[in-house]
Amino acid sequence: MIGIFDSGVGGISVWKELYGLMPNQDFVYVADSAYCPYGQKSAGEIIERAKKISEFLINKNADVIVVACNTATAAAIKYLRSHFSVSFVGMEPAIKPAAAESTSGIVGVLATAGTFKGSLYLNTLTKFASNVKVIELTGDGLVELVESGKTYGEEVESLLKKYINPIIDAGADQLVLGCTHYPFLVEAIKKISNNTLTIINPALAVAHQTQKIINEINIKPTKNMGTSIFISTGSVNTMKMLVHNINHNISEQNFIMQNI
Ligand code: DGL
Repeated sequence: MIGIFDSGVGGISVWKELYGLMPNQDFVYVADSAYCPYGQKSAGEIIERAKKISEFLINKNADVIVVACNTATAAAIKYLRSHFSVSFVGMEPAIKPAAAESTSGIVGVLATAGTFKGSLYLNTLTKFASNVKVIELTGDGLVELVESGKTYGEEVESLLKKYINPIIDAGADQLVLGCTHYPFLVEAIKKISNNTLTIINPALAVAHQTQKIINEINIKPTKNMGTSIFISTGSVNTMKMLVHNINHNISEQNFIMQNI
């Protein structure tokens, strides 16, 4: 079984790619919606939640855990890897492909405050962004909009403009999505940027990395289609809507509200 967790529904954008690549695997997804957002929380608080959720997923027999949250990866992945024996895959800020593909030499990154503070992000910048100018914007409020099920419309566009316009005005041609909630805003981003930005979402690369680990540890997929279970520590409503937009056939019973 592949365990996945995020501060909320954002990691569904990662489950989409994992499920697309490995439809016969079983998945258990945990949305920590009762504790969302993680972006402004201290690293200690995020580690505490990540530890509890990982224990829960390991008890459900997870072979691999995907930390489908950039903020939780930044704060907790080192701790998780040293504390548990199961493999963890985290979110990498996709600075490398953005820098490689930029023709203007200017790259925009939209992420949470927690992700920008993490050493993972700073190391990635040092390694891959020495030849480009990086414009960093903290997407305050965007996670909350997606959590409440708002992914398009006037409210979404007007908040997004606050972050996307400075990136465009600076001359960026690449936009790195540094938070797993943001892929749900791609249509709105395309609209307000007039398709002038190449949008980079690392979710597919993370799914490939997970598949590699699955192959290495030789997990046999079930013969039939795998099962995806979606657990939320808060409301399951937005999760249901986002999952059903990806796959209509997932049964209502697979969405569960549970305290972790
Ligand atoms: N999806 C989380 C991420 O990738 C959102 C963080 C938050 O809850 O603020 O960073």
